[in-house]
Amino acid sequence: MPQAPDTITRNLWHVVAATDELRIGLVETTLLLDTPLALTRGIDGEPVVWLRSDEQNGDEIDAETVLERLPVRTAYGYTWTCLGTAPAALFPIPEFAEPDRVNMSCGSIAIHVSAPRAVENFLDMGHFPYVHTDILGSEPHTEVKEYDVEVSEERDEVLATKCRFMQPRAAKSATTAMEVEYVYRVPHPFCSVLYKSCPEDESRRDVIGIFLQPMTEERCRAHLLQSMIDSTSTITDLRRFQQTIFGQDKPILENQYPKKLPLDPRSETPIRADKSAIAYRRWLSQKGITYGVIPVAS
Ligand SMILES: [Fe+2]
Repeated sequence: MPQAPDTITRNLWHVVAATDELRIGLVETTLLLDTPLALTRGIDGEPVVWLRSDEQNGDEIDAETVLERLPVRTAYGYTWTCLGTAPAALFPIPEFAEPDRVNMSCGSIAIHVSAPRAVENFLDMGHFPYVHTDILGSEPHTEVKEYDVEVSEERDEVLATKCRFMQPRAAKSATTAMEVEYVYRVPHPFCSVLYKSCPEDESRRDVIGIFLQPMTEERCRAHLLQSMIDSTSTITDLRRFQQTIFGQDKPILENQYPKKLPLDPRSETPIRADKSAIAYRRWLSQKGITYGVIPVAS
C-alpha cells in the first residue's frame, strides 16, 4: 500500500490536465497522489473531476450526472484539483494575463521520477551544455556564474535571481547566441516558473512554467506552459521547441537514483550551481513535505 501523502501535499491544488484537451462528455482517467481520478468537461466547457470508480478512459459521460465532485479550478490553461482542503488561492503568474502574450500548453509528459526531482532539474543550469547542446548551452561556456537565492517569506516561494548563461539558441525567436538572464520561482512545492530574457524585446521576459502532477511518489506528469513574446513563430513551432528541450530532459530524469528527492543536504555533493537546489530542499523540509522525497533523518 502506498503511504498516505502528508497533509501539506494533500491540501495543495494539483494540476491534472490541460483544460482544452479534456473532451466534453468523455472520461479521462489519471492518478494523483496514488488516487485514481476521472475527469471530463461539461457542455459549458468547465472541467469536472471526481474519484474514479469503474470508469474507463474514453467512456461517454454527462458531466451533470457527476454529483460527488472534487474541488476544481482552471488556471494557466490547466485544470487543478485538490484531495484535501483546497486553499483559496493558487500562486500568481501575472504575465499570463498580458494581452500580447502567446500562451500555450506544451504537453503533459509522464516521467518515471518524483515530482520534486523534476522541479530540481528545472532549476539546474549546469546541465544545459551537456543535455541541451547547441540550444540552451554549448562548450566551452559551461560555467554557472554566481547568482542569488532567497526564500521570500511574504510570498512563500523560493526565488533565484541574476542567473546568467551563454546560450546558442535561447528561444525559438533567437537568431544569435546571447547571454540570457534567468529568474526562477518555486511558488508551489511541485511547480516552478522561469523568466528568461526575451530575444524579441529586451525590456520583457518570456515565461515558462513547469507544473508537476505527482501521480505516485516516484512517477509524475510534467505539464508545460509557455507564455511568450514572439510575433513570428507559430504555436506549433513554439510547442515543438519546448517539447524538444523536454524530450532531452526525460531520459536524464528517469536515470536519477533514488527517484525520490533526498532532502538531506549532505546526501548529494553540493556545488555552487546547486544553491537553488539546496534552498528548494530546505524549503520542502521546513514545510514538512514527505511525499516524493526522502526526509532528513531526525
Ligand atoms: Fe533541461
